[in-house]
Amino acid sequence: MIKRRILVTGGTGYIGTHTIVELQAKGFEVIVIDSLVNSLSGVLNQVEQISGTKPLFYEFDLCDKTALENLFTIEKNIDAIIHFAALKAVGDSVENPLLYYQNNMLSLMNVLDAMIKFKVKNIVFSSSCTVYGQPDSLPVSEETPMKKPESPYGQTKQMAEQILSDVVKSTSLDVISLRYFNPIGAHDSALIGEYPIGAPNNLVPMITQTAVGIREKLLVFGDDYNTKDGSCIRDYIHVVDIAKAHVVAIERLLEGKNKSNYEVFNLGTGFGFTVLETIKAFEKVSQQKLNYEITSRRTGDVEKVYADTQLANNELGWKAERDLENMLLTAWNWQLNLKELKLK
Ligand code: NAD
Ligand code: WQD
Repeated sequence: MIKRRILVTGGTGYIGTHTIVELQAKGFEVIVIDSLVNSLSGVLNQVEQISGTKPLFYEFDLCDKTALENLFTIEKNIDAIIHFAALKAVGDSVENPLLYYQNNMLSLMNVLDAMIKFKVKNIVFSSSCTVYGQPDSLPVSEETPMKKPESPYGQTKQMAEQILSDVVKSTSLDVISLRYFNPIGAHDSALIGEYPIGAPNNLVPMITQTAVGIREKLLVFGDDYNTKDGSCIRDYIHVVDIAKAHVVAIERLLEGKNKSNYEVFNLGTGFGFTVLETIKAFEKVSQQKLNYEITSRRTGDVEKVYADTQLANNELGWKAERDLENMLLTAWNWQLNLKELKLK
């Protein structure tokens, strides 16, 4: 049987690697493009250790339109694309807005142009709960009006969704945008996980790096929010659950089960946890006492956000399965294993 071929942009990144493993488990052939601006190509050896297959890898920047068109000329019969590639550091995007607009918008537009030119119909796009800002009501459904994003990064996700929803009107493209809430955790094998290049921005890598002694202490940004313990609430979701949702979305497009040319789904658990609850859960599963200190609020943080997951549950037939303790245990096992892996 001919394997269906999925092009995964940003495939050496955190969510990309986990998704490749799930795609391969379902019999898809995977081709990866990544510029390695925020990842290492060696992770594909780890993918191979898990799945037995190393995906084909092309290293170039998607802003390079010629390189992208060359790839489509060489690699024929691509059935669908998952477009993960983007810069994602919120604070960095405030410092370097042009870099984020250029990278995230130009890479998306080049991918869309190439899809039209080379007649590839299906694309799954990585969106984010950041498009909602601080919503007026919770949980957030796909119908909840978007607020002005807090950062240029968030703006690129809103703009990307706008572009995609416009493009489907005049082309035969079919698009699914997946709005992830807070992806954390790692593969059960501890062979792949989140690998921040430089200092991490996100809570869980900060927790695990503090616990392992790379950082002296974790700063908790604010305990004076209107929540049960004063710290912010997020909908943390296991990266493997996110990865599995991509396989479901790809199958939906390939089987023509999508109900419109542009669909949007929230990917969350539907449950919100505070920062302090997350720390407690980490201490429980890791048996480590975490050195942390409450400090002032971080600019741009929303107080609380968690997903209404009904649409994804009912329409995609997908549901997040892993709980917070499993997310933190797998993140911890990955952090412990990193010393052994010597990634390049
Ligand atoms: P990541 O940084 O680990 O992976 C993104 C990959 O894209 C990296 O390997 C990077 O080298 C590559 N890349 C960036 N720009 C590129 C370009 N111009 N050409 C080729 N490759 C390029 O990030 P991730 O956490 O795996 O996120 C994947 C996607 O999901 C991103 O679009 C991100 O914005 C989105 N997202 C992430 C989160 C999260 O918290 N991790 C939440 C919501 C949405
Ligand atoms: C979670 C909570 C912090 C670090 C970001 C992006 C969002 C999406 C997911 C891509 C917050 C607190 C954190 C620390 C802390 N990404 N915290 N000390 O900000 O919810 O979302 O990642 O689309 O767009 O904005 O995630 O992990 O940074 O923070 O107290 O050292 O942990 O204040 O309440 P966030 P995060």
